[in-house]
Amino acid sequence: MSVDPFASRFPLPPNATIGILGGGQLGRMSALAAAELGYRCHIYAPGQDEPGMLVSAARTVAGYEDEAALAAFAAAVDAVTFEFENVPARTLEILAPLVPCRPGRKALAVCQDRLQEKAFFESAGVPVAPWAAVTSEAELREAVARIGLPAVLKTTRLGYDGRGQAVLRKEADIARAWETLSPRPLILEAFVPFTLELSAIAARGADGATAVYDAVENQHRHHILDLSFAPARVPEAVAESARAHAASVAAALELVGVLAVELFLLPDGRLLGNEIAPRPHNSGHWTQDACQSSQFHQHIRAVAGLPLGSPSRHSDAVMQNLVGPEGMARLPALYGAADTSVHLYGKAAAREGRKMGHANRLFPLATLERTAEAQLLSML
Ligand SMILES: Nc1ncnc2c1ncn2[C@@H]1O[C@H](COP(=O)(O)OP(=O)(O)O)[C@@H](O)[C@H]1O
Ligand SMILES: [Mg+2]
Repeated sequence: MSVDPFASRFPLPPNATIGILGGGQLGRMSALAAAELGYRCHIYAPGQDEPGMLVSAARTVAGYEDEAALAAFAAAVDAVTFEFENVPARTLEILAPLVPCRPGRKALAVCQDRLQEKAFFESAGVPVAPWAAVTSEAELREAVARIGLPAVLKTTRLGYDGRGQAVLRKEADIARAWETLSPRPLILEAFVPFTLELSAIAARGADGATAVYDAVENQHRHHILDLSFAPARVPEAVAESARAHAASVAAALELVGVLAVELFLLPDGRLLGNEIAPRPHNSGHWTQDACQSSQFHQHIRAVAGLPLGSPSRHSDAVMQNLVGPEGMARLPALYGAADTSVHLYGKAAAREGRKMGHANRLFPLATLERTAEAQLLSML
């Protein structure tokens, strides 16, 4: 095992500065948690007045491959973390010799690329749907012949909220999807006839200690997360297996920080891995109000080298995303709703499809499993 040249920096003392690459809401909520733990944050992102910058002590507005700006950033902070996984490899090459980066290159590299991600799930013992890398239309046709239809064709990099993918239902869809999606290679996945989508979030410290939250059930609308139900309304063995998958992936990635695994539940009760996000995740926002230590607190604790907090859930919760103008229009009702906390991200324009904030509605423990979904939804 190699010696960590930065080991003596940890645990970070109070008032130390954590650098966060990325300016979005995940960095903003991490910075708010860091502030509660007595740390300062310095946000590095290309845009002005991004959500994270508005609540942080310092900011750098520069490109992710700007060497001089990255060197100055590294000198100004005690440790660096990321609020998104698509950080260019070059950024890490520049930063890693100068400042501790948590999580490290391995976690980011695996999660940037769907092909590596799928192979990694398998190596960590998490089954996935049949898949194939495709670099030409001929290969795509061979992959379709092997995997069958329907299937999902995706870009391997930079996809989010359902962007960069197409469902192939019939032979005639193949050519069009191949022409539309870029950059290549692409990945073809068997279409999973899931009964529901789950996610589980694990935090892992540099000492290997792991804290895993209850698995949650996610519902999407127009490919964007709409609702998370915590805990997931699934048999205990399924929930336990989802948590175990998150813990094994975190261990196999040697993660320092938090990650989410997105999973599909099959009609026969098996779980298949879909994606890994090596950072706080939208489906973990419920932990802000329903757990002793939120995913953002855990992330900062791990990055700072503090012991992890307790992930235990003191309430059931439903998280609802506030997306675009429609989401913002719900604010007056949500401000007055019982047992509901509203979290806004400080974004200026409520464009269609843009995540503006979320609300967490708490319920007494064991309410979700006993209440019909329609009734729950009527309370939100
Ligand atoms: N192989 C698949 N089979 C069935 N549905 C899928 C498959 N892959 C993705 N989906 C659906 O599309 C959504 C988005 O896909 P995902 O791979 O998670 O990409 P991203 O979240 O980065 O946009 C998933 O949450 C799921 O609802
Ligand atoms: Mg996803």
